[in-house]
Amino acid sequence: MIARNSPLWAGYRYATAMVARNSPLWAGYECETAMVTRNSPLWAGLMIVTLPFDSIFDFNGKARPGRGTMDAGMHDRKEYDPMSTIYWFQGRFLPKEEVRISPDDRGYYFGDGVYEVFRVYGGMLFEEEAHYERLRKSAEGTRIELPDLADTATKLRELVKLNEVADGTVYVQVTRGEAPRNHLFPLRAAPVTMAYCTSTPRPIAAMEQGIHTVTTPDIRWLRCDLKTLNLLPNALFKQYALDHDASDVIFHRDGIVTECSASNLFIVQGGALVTHPANHLILKGVTRDVVIRIAREAGIPALERPFSLHELAQAEEAFVTGTTVEITPVISIDGRPVGSDGPGLLTRKLQQLFYQRIGNL
Ligand code: PDD
Repeated sequence: MIARNSPLWAGYRYATAMVARNSPLWAGYECETAMVTRNSPLWAGLMIVTLPFDSIFDFNGKARPGRGTMDAGMHDRKEYDPMSTIYWFQGRFLPKEEVRISPDDRGYYFGDGVYEVFRVYGGMLFEEEAHYERLRKSAEGTRIELPDLADTATKLRELVKLNEVADGTVYVQVTRGEAPRNHLFPLRAAPVTMAYCTSTPRPIAAMEQGIHTVTTPDIRWLRCDLKTLNLLPNALFKQYALDHDASDVIFHRDGIVTECSASNLFIVQGGALVTHPANHLILKGVTRDVVIRIAREAGIPALERPFSLHELAQAEEAFVTGTTVEITPVISIDGRPVGSDGPGLLTRKLQQLFYQRIGNL
């Protein structure tokens, strides 16, 4: 045990999980407690594990199957390997070891490719059509030729089955293909498609407790609406957040809040949701759109308009949305708490509505 205000605190990772033995959740989870210094070789094997007793993942009163202890939230570096063993590569299902990507692939040289991340709940891909629609737009915007998407959809569903994924993700990317390094588009490159899935648990602890954030100027390019492999700014700023004891950054352009490094941001103002309009400055999140829809269905106004850092600081509540983070409350921004203590009531209500939706897949 280390005091939170001790200088040693930052060097430790605390893992704990607790579930009553007679709880129906018991079977699906593992208990872990560990404390290891940052420079220990064991460090790489650890992850943050926290479990609430009556947790939100028990939607509809049922425990979801599979592992559920790992918090994919703030400090998760995915040291465990949740990746599937079977990949979908160039139209074939292959073991990972047999996937061969050329060093001349333009994805490797230039980040010249587009991608999607789908959520899998109970073996089903969530909001499939919306993801393909966005992939089409990303491909159009980058002039990359996609494989047949009807066939892709069939193959990705099969991939989930082959890898026996119940709860997890599917990642698919298409690069412009292989060609000697030259900025100009190659005359004859064939696109390279690769997909895999993961068994990733939902980030229960972060969704329950909320996350800390820091604001930073948005230095990305002006086509953030395209989901491309060029993620260096996102990665740099995700790390910047961790280095500042936060889970994520909140980007702003000249004082107008855009989004986070891998999620969209909402604030609550006067009982209404406010989020940046879906233009070229943000990625039009699939989860963002689901949240807007379920809010409006529940009679909660959802406004898509620019808002300032000042409005962010005054917000009653704030939360991020994304395929992997679902709806995660933001409980502090630049060290100052958001609204009253902890996750807000409207955020909780939207989480419940979202869980009902995925519970009914
Ligand atoms: N990222 N904004 C950015 C910059 C993102 O990268 C993402 C998703 C989102 C949320 O979009 P959606 O709700 O469709 O997941 C918003 C994915 C998960 C990733 O890059 O891993």
